[in-house]
Amino acid sequence: MRRPLRPQPGSVLGGPLVHLDETASTNDRGRELALAGAPHGTVVVAERQTAGRGRQGRTWTAPPGRALTLSVLARTEAARMELLPLAVALAVCDACEKTAAVECMVKWPNDVWIDGRKVAGILIEARPQDGWAIIGIGLNVDTATEDFPAQLRDTATSLRIATGAAVDRNLGLKELCQGLSDWLAALREPDRVIDAFRARDALSGQRISWTQGGEGMSGQARGIDDTGALVVFTDGGTEVHLDAGEVHLQQRA
Ligand code: BTN
Repeated sequence: MRRPLRPQPGSVLGGPLVHLDETASTNDRGRELALAGAPHGTVVVAERQTAGRGRQGRTWTAPPGRALTLSVLARTEAARMELLPLAVALAVCDACEKTAAVECMVKWPNDVWIDGRKVAGILIEARPQDGWAIIGIGLNVDTATEDFPAQLRDTATSLRIATGAAVDRNLGLKELCQGLSDWLAALREPDRVIDAFRARDALSGQRISWTQGGEGMSGQARGIDDTGALVVFTDGGTEVHLDAGEVHLQQRA
């Protein structure tokens, strides 16, 4: 049975909570609210997105009534935004673990994984010069295997699939807001964010590939540096620090 989402009018984040049946993208709605002067902690949650966006120009789809698709407006100084992607991933991990009996890891910079499958994606669209960022989160809470398109069934998961039991989206939403409140505050303590990320780093020691200037590269991930960049020892024998983009875990032979 699909459980309706019944968000409270406000959340622990301190801003209003806007609950929409349908919108193109909660990130777009969040951006409009940011430009109109909405306060820090404003949350936009939608039951259905008609043009949900993912990273790297991809789309993001989620079955209505099963997932959480939401965006949060964070007003914070530019200097604190460097570690925002990692802090948000940590917030999502904490929220998942408080909502269901799961253990989460993070694939740099901010895909949240359970047992090597993606349970949540994060799309941050920031305007550091204006002191705000829209944090978009898609979290597969109560999604069943058959709700995913066939091509995602081997790589995606949900809290429901991971535990084998129905999971309450209202609890997930409450814990997400709590997690974001905690980890946005932790941006004042960069070492805490870095240490917590290192404890959840799914790529450390793994062989990965990525593209740079159109060229395919591969190497071994060696954790993150103090700015949150991914440290990689390339097959060419050099150490590089990746601060943006996407890396892929190579299949074991
Ligand atoms: C990814 O590619 O992994 C990021 C996916 C982010 C999806 C969320 S759903 C809520 C918010 N609105 C969007 O259009 N995208 C983000």
